[in-house]
Amino acid sequence: IKRITTHILQEMKERGEKISMLTAYDFSMATIVDAAGIDIILVGDSASNVMAGHETTLPITLDQMIYHASSVVRAVKRSFVVVDIPFGNYQGNSSEALRSAIRIMKESGAHAVKVEGGAEIKESVSRILSAGVPVMGHLGLTPQSIYKFGTYTVRAKEEAEAKKLLEDAKILEECGCFAIVLEKIPASLAKKVAESVQIPVIGIGAGPHVDGQVLVMHDMLGITQEFKPRFLRQYADLQQVMTDAFKNYIRDVKNKDFPNKSESY
Ligand code: KIV
Ligand code: NA
Repeated sequence: IKRITTHILQEMKERGEKISMLTAYDFSMATIVDAAGIDIILVGDSASNVMAGHETTLPITLDQMIYHASSVVRAVKRSFVVVDIPFGNYQGNSSEALRSAIRIMKESGAHAVKVEGGAEIKESVSRILSAGVPVMGHLGLTPQSIYKFGTYTVRAKEEAEAKKLLEDAKILEECGCFAIVLEKIPASLAKKVAESVQIPVIGIGAGPHVDGQVLVMHDMLGITQEFKPRFLRQYADLQQVMTDAFKNYIRDVKNKDFPNKSESY
């Protein structure tokens, strides 16, 4: 199998082939999604929500992200694996940013890192890139700064914020980022960004006129049920499938139906 590289992702944009991306946080799920043919697996800090049960992405640590990432990398044969650098491990200081990125690359074997923000984190992005580590940007709704915004509503609807977002995208491209995620912004703005930069732009709640799409695996599988934003298309109802399986198992145990003779030694 031919592994996906930043070069292949760039070619996909150039020939108009949309890039598919999903999150994964563990070996078993990553095995399935890689074999299904996903282009990029994101070990997102959404692990803080869907794996650890935190309300925000802020509490997850670098060590915990490395644990998730190394589990995913052991499963992957073809996908390009990108890992979120968690809140507090890159923003303040470019040396720390580089140290965090190097720990992720060395200890997990991942292929790239992702960071949230534009102009504010320019030095950190450049420093990481100078070490040869590919960086994916993330603009629009940036969950690590949720307390600055206060809500998870659509971003960059106003002229000033839209202008800054477009400038930030260009800054990230100039720094050398290989791709940018745009989260929850108007489709028209996302289109403008995708047309204004040469690198792939991957959307989540950013409409169809971008170079690829990303969703959180547990949301698209219907494992999480409380989170239902407009942009989420649910491809399965695994909560129902799993609940039925668990209930049937419990029933069989209680009824002494499991294990039967052929299931015993
Ligand atoms: O952590 C995450 O899952 C993400 C995606 C939503 C882009 O950053
Ligand atoms: Na994230």
